[in-house]
Parts: sequence; structure tokens; C-alpha cells
Amino acid sequence: MYASKTCNSAIQLREKGQVVLRDVPLKHLGSVHLEKGVVDSHFEVVKEALLGTIKEAVGESWSDEMGGAWGEAYDQLAATIKTQMEEEAAQPQLSSN
Ligand code: HEM
Repeated sequence: MYASKTCNSAIQLREKGQVVLRDVPLKHLGSVHLEKGVVDSHFEVVKEALLGTIKEAVGESWSDEMGGAWGEAYDQLAATIKTQMEEEAAQPQLSSN
């Protein structure tokens, strides 16, 4: 799940120089993570886990450049989700249940 999203981000980064998510999935991802109580510091932990898993999976193909590209793509995606979470957290609640 994280690898496919990050992979899409990497492709967008290469093609457009930035990561843009469509409004609906972005809002959805912001909501899910806000509701689950995810905070900023968790993103760093998930990043380390993701990069470590990819490094293990690709074996000898691994390079610092590859790690940097995955890291950059993840950071862009994480920043986008965090912004959405902050915006949603700042909105007044419409429902209390
Ligand atoms: C760039 C970073 C991340 C991406 C792309 C990502 C992506 C996703 C996606 C696609 C889902 C499924 C949403 C759905 O139910 O439709 C999800 C759920 C979730 N994510 Fe993330 N996530 C990221 C970071 C994190 C971090 C840092 C945490 C905290 C440890 C986290 C915890 C969770 C939890 C708890 C769920 C709900 C799982 C469930 O209820 O089944 N995520 N995430």
C-alpha cells in the first residue's frame, strides 16, 4: 500500500517535478490518518521502515541514489497528507458522534 503510493509519487516527481494528488483521495487519506491519531513523528518511523523494506527487497540493485529518490517521493507524499490533516483538524466539527 505505502510502496504503491510512494511509487506513484516518484513517477509524478520525475515527470512533473512535484506530487499532486486528486482532491478526493487526498482528503480521504488526510481523514483516515487524522482519525487514527497519526502524528508527525510517525511519518519518520514509517519512512525508515519503508526504505528498509525496499532496500531488503531490491538486494544488490540498491544504491544511495535509489534510496534518495524513494525518500524524496515519500517526503512529498507525507507532506501533502500532513497538510491535509492540519487543514481538516483546523475545521470546526460538523458532527459530534
Ligand atoms: C506517505 C505516507 C503514508 C501513506 C501514503 C499512507 C497511505 C495509507 C492508505 C492508502 C491507507 C488506507 C486508507 C483507506 O482505508 O482507504 C492508510 C491507512 C492507515 N495508515 Fe497510512 N499512510 C502513510 C503514513 C502513515 C503513518 C505515518 C502512519 C502511522 C504509523 C499510518 C497509519 C495508518 C493507519 C493506522 C491506517 C488505517 C489502517 C486500517 O484501519 O486498516 N500511515 N494509509
